[in-house]
Amino acid sequence: MKLRNLFIGLAAATFSAIAMAQAPIVIKFSHVVAADTPKGKASEFFAKKAAELTKGKAKVEVYANSALYKDKEEMEALQLGAVQMLAPSLAKFGPLGVKEFEAFDFPYIFDDTADLHKITQGPVGASMMAKLEPKGIKGLAFWDNGFKSFSANTPIKVPGDLKGKKLRIQSSKVLEEQIRSVGGLPQVMAFSEVYQALQTGVVDGTENPISNLYTQKMHEVQKHLTLTNHGYLGYAVIVNKKFWEGLPADVRGQLEAAMKEATAYANKIAQEENDTALEGVKKSGKTAVYMPSKDERMAFKKAMAPVHAKMADRVGKDLLQTIYKETGFDPNKL
Ligand code: LMR
Repeated sequence: MKLRNLFIGLAAATFSAIAMAQAPIVIKFSHVVAADTPKGKASEFFAKKAAELTKGKAKVEVYANSALYKDKEEMEALQLGAVQMLAPSLAKFGPLGVKEFEAFDFPYIFDDTADLHKITQGPVGASMMAKLEPKGIKGLAFWDNGFKSFSANTPIKVPGDLKGKKLRIQSSKVLEEQIRSVGGLPQVMAFSEVYQALQTGVVDGTENPISNLYTQKMHEVQKHLTLTNHGYLGYAVIVNKKFWEGLPADVRGQLEAAMKEATAYANKIAQEENDTALEGVKKSGKTAVYMPSKDERMAFKKAMAPVHAKMADRVGKDLLQTIYKETGFDPNKL
C-alpha cells in the first residue's frame, strides 16, 4: 500500500513538473488607449509575434483601455511586478522622476517624424532609456503615435482663443507651462477620465493625436478641432527589469526580435492610423476641423516659444541643445 502511495505521489510530482515546464511565461501588457489605435494594434502585433517566435513559450496578454490600470497606477504596477510590460506616453516619465522625457513635450520641438526619429531611434533616445534602469525599468523601444491638436467647444484659430479655457493635459510640468503660455488653465487628468470630463464640462478642451481623440469618441463632445500639431505624443515600451533579466536567454532574445518587428510595424502604421481617424472625425459631422494658415501656425509657435527657456532647466539645457542640434529647431529664431 505504502509503495503504491509513493508511486502515485511520484507520478503526480512528475506530471506537475512537466506541466510547469510547459506552462507559458505570461507577460501582462497593460495600456490605456483603445485597441484600434497605433499603440493598441502594435501591442497585439507584438503578442502574436511573441507567441510565434517563442513557439508558445511566452504568452503576451494585452489589456487595452485602462482595463487593468489607469495612467499613474500602471507605472506603479510595473515597478511592483503586477504587470510586466507597458507602453506609457513619454510624458508619463516626468512624474516618475525621469524628467528628461519631458523634452518630448516641448512645443514644436519636432517638425515632423523624421526629426523625431533622429532622437528616438538614435543615441539620445538610448541614453534616455538607460535613465529608467535605476527605477527598476528597462526600456525596449520607442513607438510613435503622432502630433497633438487642440479641441474645444469654441473655434480655435489664434492662441488667444484658448485663453481662460480649462484644458486637460497629461501630468507633465512642460505641458502645464505650454498651456499657460496661451493663457489656458492646465488640468491634469487620467486619460480614461477625459471623455466624461469633456462631456460634463469639467474641462473645456484637450490636446491629443487624432487617433486618441477619435477612438475615445472625444469628437462627439467637442465641437471644434484645430490641426495645430503643436507637440508630439509617443511611447516608450518598457518592462519590469528584474522580470526581463530573469527570463531564459533564448526566450528573451526571441521577445527582443518580436519587439523589433512590432516597433517597425508601430512606426509604419502610426501616421496612417491618425489619417484614418481624421477622416472619421470629418465624416462624423460632429466636429468642425480647422487647418490653421501658415501665419496662424506661426502665431501658435511664437506664443509657445517662451516655454523652451522657462522649462530648459527641468529637462536639462544640454539635452535640449542636443535635440535642437539634431532637429534644427531654434525657439529664438521664429
Ligand atoms: C494621454 O494620457 O493623453 C495619452 O498618454 C494616452 C496614450 O497613452 O496615448
